[in-house]
Amino acid sequence: QPAKKTAAASFDFKEIEAGVDQTHHVAEGYDAQILLRWGDPIFPDASDFDPNAQSAARQARQFGYNSDFVGYIPIGGSSQHGLLVVNHEYTNEELMFPGVGIQDAKDAGFSKMTKDLVDIEMAAHGGAVVEIRRQSGRWAVMRESRYNRRITAETPMEITGPAAGHDRMRTAADPTGRQVRGMINNCAGGVTPWGTWLSCEENFNGYFWGKLPEGHREAVNYKRYGIGTPAYAWGKFHDRFDLAKEPNEANRFGWVVEIDPFDPDFVPKKRTALGRTKHEGAAGIVNADGRYVIYLGDDERFDYVYRFVTAGQVDPQNRAANLGLLDEGTLSVAKYNPDGSGTWLPLVQGQGPLTGQNGFASQADVLIETRRAADLLGATKMDRPEDIEASPKTGRVYVMLTNNTRRSDAQVDPANPRAKNAFGHIIEMVPDGGDHAAATFRWEVLVRCGDPSIKEVGATFSSETTKNGWFGMPDNCAIDQKGRLWIATDGNNQKATGRADGLWALETEGELRGTSRHFFRVPAGAELCGPFFTPDDETLFLAVQHPGEAEEGQPASYEYPNTRWPDFKDGVPPRPSVVLVTKQGGGKIA
Ligand code: FEO
Ligand code: CA
Ligand code: CA
Ligand code: CA
Repeated sequence: QPAKKTAAASFDFKEIEAGVDQTHHVAEGYDAQILLRWGDPIFPDASDFDPNAQSAARQARQFGYNSDFVGYIPIGGSSQHGLLVVNHEYTNEELMFPGVGIQDAKDAGFSKMTKDLVDIEMAAHGGAVVEIRRQSGRWAVMRESRYNRRITAETPMEITGPAAGHDRMRTAADPTGRQVRGMINNCAGGVTPWGTWLSCEENFNGYFWGKLPEGHREAVNYKRYGIGTPAYAWGKFHDRFDLAKEPNEANRFGWVVEIDPFDPDFVPKKRTALGRTKHEGAAGIVNADGRYVIYLGDDERFDYVYRFVTAGQVDPQNRAANLGLLDEGTLSVAKYNPDGSGTWLPLVQGQGPLTGQNGFASQADVLIETRRAADLLGATKMDRPEDIEASPKTGRVYVMLTNNTRRSDAQVDPANPRAKNAFGHIIEMVPDGGDHAAATFRWEVLVRCGDPSIKEVGATFSSETTKNGWFGMPDNCAIDQKGRLWIATDGNNQKATGRADGLWALETEGELRGTSRHFFRVPAGAELCGPFFTPDDETLFLAVQHPGEAEEGQPASYEYPNTRWPDFKDGVPPRPSVVLVTKQGGGKIA
């Protein structure tokens, strides 16, 4: 008998069974409350959800589709009363609208999509601000709140920072290059210490229709971002999403958007200094010298990890001054050396290869083509960087690398150690000297994900991890006040593995480092997003995204979804929802 380990696990919940069925499951002793569903009215004058009477006007007053990032911004420091800020990443027209079915290769013209349906989709994208309050243990939405707001693909926004006003940002509708309508495909994000919401445009490429005019200067740029294969029919009905009619509009998407949720009239700002990529998230930390440091993943196979350091310092006494901080600073891209050291390579016009000769005549050019600039600097090509979070307790930085089945044996490197990486891994970075603005860092792989009982997978969870405790495809993460890591997954092939996506808690310290436990799982077809804690760690916000979606070998449509969660009523489609978890009888989560 091996000696029993004496170190107590820092997580004390009883883990749930991994598996998949029609509904969600949370660890024993916890409650999961469904707070906001797609279509729920969030204003006093908003209509109740009726899938047969949906319109763009109704949708614009209701909670949007496919929530991803969820942030909680306290009012007066409270963990019982605050503003929920939520991204509505994308839409599943086959699950939202009767008779639309699944888009197939033969119907590249989106023949079933009408302008009315497209306009509903545009109103279901974007985000929401909702005031919420906890009374007698239960949370409720305050529908009358003056803060409540919907942001859609049509909301007027301002472009700020070094790329604002540049020729390449100008369109027929906006000759200034400083005003754009809407944000799209906003995946993860962040909340700043000055109480704003950072919302990140990810797969913006899929919204552009048509072809650039022959010989257009943006051809190389657009190819690098995968623009040219539409996933949505918007460009059929809206000229600005048709490259032939408005070739520059696509340069105005792919940014990090800052929104002040305490000002319902605030014009959202696309902060170009943070670069243009398929941004996953934008979580940050205040550096010891007062500058704000944001870590950013670009979610694509063989793309990069970035860092932005503000030029100025956060002023805790002057909120208004902090609202300009993200327009000036240095964006860098990570190089992971094989010896466990790492270097941040600055993306600054005029330095190294970032010159006019290579097409970078100004910092605006560097930012508009962030990926091509990073290619020239020789950054490390990663396995799809998703969320990145810095621990406020230890200062260590955790990078979720979700998967990359296209990596060949020849492309394996120590930071991306598996070919055909189906399950992803997590890297831990330690900034040199504890300085998040330092030019160098140390790094190691914290865990290679996947089923440890299958030798060929090469997973490295600790031996204390049970058959329920392992996970694959890490995507979003949160770090609680004790510095413990919580990981939400996206893409466990439910048919192949018999496991739904969900939330796992991972020990990062001491003897149990690398031990994972299963806390929550989603219904069939869904992925899990959030997670986010209130400051007191007593409420955990989660987002169940695309419930009922098709799985490999299990097609799904409005008429035949893979689940009707959470309403379970005939004729009511599945509804992506924000769920909150609290401990029965009160107390900190786990
Ligand atoms: Fe929208 Fe990278 O997940
Ligand atoms: Ca997502
Ligand atoms: Ca994600
Ligand atoms: Ca993902």
